[in-house]
Amino acid sequence: MHFKYEEFEAICNRIVGLVKYAAKEVWAISDPDCVSVGVFYWARGPERMNMDNWKPKTKLVHAGIKRSQYNELSEAIFLTQGFAYDTAEQAEARFIKAAQDEYVYARYGNPTVRMFEERIAALEGAEDAFATASGMAAVSGALFSMLRAGDHVVSAKALFGSCLFVLEDILQRWGIEVTFVEGTDLDAWRAAMRPNTKVAFLEALSNPTLEVIDITGVSKIAHAVGATVVVDNVFATPVFQRSMELGADVVIYSATKHIDGQGRCLGGVVLGTKEYIRNTFEPFNKHTGPAMSPFTAWVMLKGLETIALRCEAQAATCETLVNALSDHPKLERLIYPFAPDHPQLELAKRQMTKGGTVITLIIKGGKDGAFRFINGLDIVTISNNLGDAKSIITHPATTTHQRLTADNRAALGISDGLVRISIGLEDAQDLLDDMTQALESV
Ligand SMILES: Cc1ncc(COP(=O)(O)O)c(C=O)c1O
Repeated sequence: MHFKYEEFEAICNRIVGLVKYAAKEVWAISDPDCVSVGVFYWARGPERMNMDNWKPKTKLVHAGIKRSQYNELSEAIFLTQGFAYDTAEQAEARFIKAAQDEYVYARYGNPTVRMFEERIAALEGAEDAFATASGMAAVSGALFSMLRAGDHVVSAKALFGSCLFVLEDILQRWGIEVTFVEGTDLDAWRAAMRPNTKVAFLEALSNPTLEVIDITGVSKIAHAVGATVVVDNVFATPVFQRSMELGADVVIYSATKHIDGQGRCLGGVVLGTKEYIRNTFEPFNKHTGPAMSPFTAWVMLKGLETIALRCEAQAATCETLVNALSDHPKLERLIYPFAPDHPQLELAKRQMTKGGTVITLIIKGGKDGAFRFINGLDIVTISNNLGDAKSIITHPATTTHQRLTADNRAALGISDGLVRISIGLEDAQDLLDDMTQALESV
């Protein structure tokens, strides 16, 4: 084959263009006497990284990073809805099957979002991940993508209000039966399983009563009938609990909580096998639309860099508060998974490395007592997020769980005196002083 020198040079430049994303340095040698082109590249970024032996804190800072031709240190925000193709043939090929690091449209995937997905997957020990616009997009997408009319689901009954709506209302309307069980009762899970049970769904730590569910026990029961175990791991956090190692098949996070950790963005993520994420979840999510925005993914990547430090500090403050407040005369009960009187302390310690970042208090005097306490606080803010740098107090009976009937709330242990406190990054003594003074007004 004969080329004119100009054509030869154009081919060299094209090769350089193709490999530069995967290379630290690229040179192409081309001159009129040269009969071949040599492209030298030095792999960088993920190609050079062998993450297998890294500890979680290292993965949280480096995993998934992709650098552009500028070799930026911090992750870039690829704030683009789409991607240009060099040729019509390339566009056609991408629509048939986009290879790794090839993108088509941000609803399908985006480099910044992919960095976030790869980083959280590395932390969780999952084969793959798909990021979503919110935690509820992750929960509903995980369920809708794997279920069809005629299927059956077994779910723990103590659930976040929106999760309950998806299971109790939407799924049943679409011909999918759901049996709710007491999550802590393995016999109840066993009795509820049917040949057509496709999913076992649970929140690892229930909201707001902080019951601990035996994930290994539920997984064995569910797997015996071929069901997929889906765990919403928000309260346990990716730092303190590795639900996949305990037996879960699919793990979900509302990234809005600890992953962002500073109350800025809504986001979610679904983790599972490559087969599930690529062949079941991705087609569902990319065609129904709740993609994570590149800006959100960047915030979440930055959140992951500090999540371990934040969660460790928040859990340490929880322990200080638990020790100081457990026997307070204005409290009917203090609930924390690692508190010495938690009924599932042993299980909690088996599944989690720390007790989490949320404490639940049952204030004497019912709703009146709870409201007096909430209104008496100066530092702890009244809101309904959790996992935030700011400590946040929520009265579930009148907010997050208001939709439930009083009987249903009672069955879940959500009394009128119950308050949920997400512990932030403030000084532990300041928080203790604030809570102590607020309890005086009860
Ligand atoms: C346990 C649990 N799952 C899911 C969600 C939903 O997350 P998002 O608000 O990001 O949609 C929440 C939010 O509060 C939650 O607490």
